[in-house]
Order: sequence, then structure tokens, then C-alpha cells
Amino acid sequence: MSLPVSGAESHLITAASCAEIDKWVAKYPPERKQSAVMAALRIVQEQNGGWLSDGLIAAVADYLGMPAVAVYEVATFYSMYQLEPVGRHKISVCTNISCLLRGSETVVAHLERRLGIKLGETTADGKITLKEVECLGACVNAPMLQVGKRYLEKLTPETLDALLDDLQGDQVNG
Ligand code: FES
Repeated sequence: MSLPVSGAESHLITAASCAEIDKWVAKYPPERKQSAVMAALRIVQEQNGGWLSDGLIAAVADYLGMPAVAVYEVATFYSMYQLEPVGRHKISVCTNISCLLRGSETVVAHLERRLGIKLGETTADGKITLKEVECLGACVNAPMLQVGKRYLEKLTPETLDALLDDLQGDQVNG
């Protein structure tokens, strides 16, 4: 990925997304509107089917009056942002210490086996992306994963199978 270059890219953000971003901008003093950068990235990512293109990163920079590189730094630091296209559903599996101690390796192996893909890959039908992430703050109920806006905790082979059946049948959003 090349470094995004800002330059009048704001037109890439839809009117609906602008309205959403403006709600976040309004929470901060006018001279601090860049504080809305994380929300803005989330909003335009959703607008774009789950990932951030160079153009959208530059567009957020333009919109918030920030250097493109500063927005790029945020987009590359946090695991909830995707810099490449993803499947319709993204499964983010925590493999950090508590989850590791409670069996995240087994969780990953189960998911990889059933989906026929490795971490970081997307199924051929474009439905599911499997992603490894750092601690998501649900250590007490490890092992866990995130899909869409939902946390699934105390994972077992049965709960994983139920999740995959739902996602492959598109029975749930996430
Ligand atoms: S280590 Fe997995 S949620 Fe904290």
C-alpha cells in the first residue's frame, strides 16, 4: 500500500457518512475536530464495505484538516481498520496471552480447518475473513473472538460451529 496523499478527496465520503462524522466532530472543540478521526475512519470503512482505501484515508484527512500521514498512522495502528478488501463477515480471533492460555490455538485451528483458509485470508466465496488480533479486553471469558459488533466468549467447538453455520448461511449480521 502506498502512503495516501491528501488533496481534495473529501468527495469520496458520502453525504450520509459526512452527517455521521459531523456528529462526532460536534463533540469536540472546533480546533480539535481531528479528535473524531477514529470515528470517521470507522464510518467510512463501513461505507466502503469494510475496508479503507488510500483515497478514503486521504478523504478523512481532508475532511478533518489533518495530514494524510497522521490518519494513515491511526488506520495502521488499530486492528479494527482494514487496509484491504475483506469478506462480508470478519472474524477477529484474539490470540493474546489470556486467550492463548485458554486455547486460542485450538480455536484458530478449528476455524482454519472448517473454512479452508489461514489467518489473514478470505474464503473463496467472499463471505468470511479470518483475522488474528491482540487483546480485545474480554480476557475474563477467554478464549474469545469478535464478529461484527458482537463478542463471542468462552468459545467451544460447538459455539464455533454454530457461528460458522450462521455466517455461511448469512443468518446473522456481523
Ligand atoms: S487476551 Fe484475549 S481478550 Fe484479552
